[in-house]
Amino acid sequence: MTKALAAAQPVAPPLLLALPGNEGLAEALARELGGELGTVDVHRFPDGETLVRIGTPVTGRSVLLAATLHRPDDKLLPLLFLAATARDLGAARVGLVAPYLAYMRQDRRFREGEGVTSRYFAHVVSEAVDWLVTVDPHLHRHESLTDIYTVPGVVVRAAPAISAWIGAEIPRPLLVGPDSESAQWVLAVAEGAGAPALVLEKVRRGDRVVEISVPDVERWRDHTPVLVDDIISTARTMIETVAHLRRAGLAPPVCVGVHAVFAGRAYEDLMAAGAGRVVTCNTIPHPSNAIDLTERLAHGVRSALAANGVRLALVSRGAQRGEAHQSAPRQAMRRP
Ligand code: R5P
Repeated sequence: MTKALAAAQPVAPPLLLALPGNEGLAEALARELGGELGTVDVHRFPDGETLVRIGTPVTGRSVLLAATLHRPDDKLLPLLFLAATARDLGAARVGLVAPYLAYMRQDRRFREGEGVTSRYFAHVVSEAVDWLVTVDPHLHRHESLTDIYTVPGVVVRAAPAISAWIGAEIPRPLLVGPDSESAQWVLAVAEGAGAPALVLEKVRRGDRVVEISVPDVERWRDHTPVLVDDIISTARTMIETVAHLRRAGLAPPVCVGVHAVFAGRAYEDLMAAGAGRVVTCNTIPHPSNAIDLTERLAHGVRSALAANGVRLALVSRGAQRGEAHQSAPRQAMRRP
């Protein structure tokens, strides 16, 4: 058979394996990509150790691990074991689909003696998988995933989906970013929604203490403020911003987060603080999920698979939409 004919042969569909809690994500991606849903058993022994068993043959297959990584410390070891087991059993390639990528915020040594955990986490994950797809990682002092990840990655942008949601749901929106770090998301969302935008100033004084300075916002009283941020964790950033906007006489703000991390009672606290609505994208399962990124994520996975030589039959609807490929430097691609 000639090389050209061999290249045209259909390839085995990718195999989706879910870390516990990610079954919905794996099912949705399998549906969008025409992939096969495999089975995984993650067993926790009485002594606290973990055993992973993959119940579907992986030999020669392109394997996709579905694992969103909020509260990552409990998830990392099972993820590493799952990736290693897939490799050990003969998987051709192992990719990670992590809609939320943890440990991106400790992107420098803020105080003497601290570790830069974003780098250490990236190193561990890069050793375990061949490629990575994620949604809006918190890139601030790291400009690109490839600053810290040595495997190729695809970054899926939530902004177009958020703009579309705002356009359909919110009359006269005023986009508000609580701090300079949010500007990249807020300005992209505002542009997509054709709405005005403000970016405020934030000073974080502790894990749960933030101060927001709000310029003269009274002139926006006839608009609906829509706060947009990438991560809602303690929600203190949004709570402080909501309080300022309410004191200035603006309508109850709609709070939109890409990643619904919501530590402890953060969601309830934000509602109680006077938010009109709290909505998030479905990168982390949460009752506030209202903006579906599955199709965009599937498109990102298609791109990552294509970059790894895997072409899929067309299953999902329509082509998309501005994902950023972040190819690792050539010498860093250790598994050709
Ligand atoms: C930080 O710069 C992020 O963009 C978010 O503003 C921050 O993570 C929100 O954290 P919290 O909900 O704990 O205030």
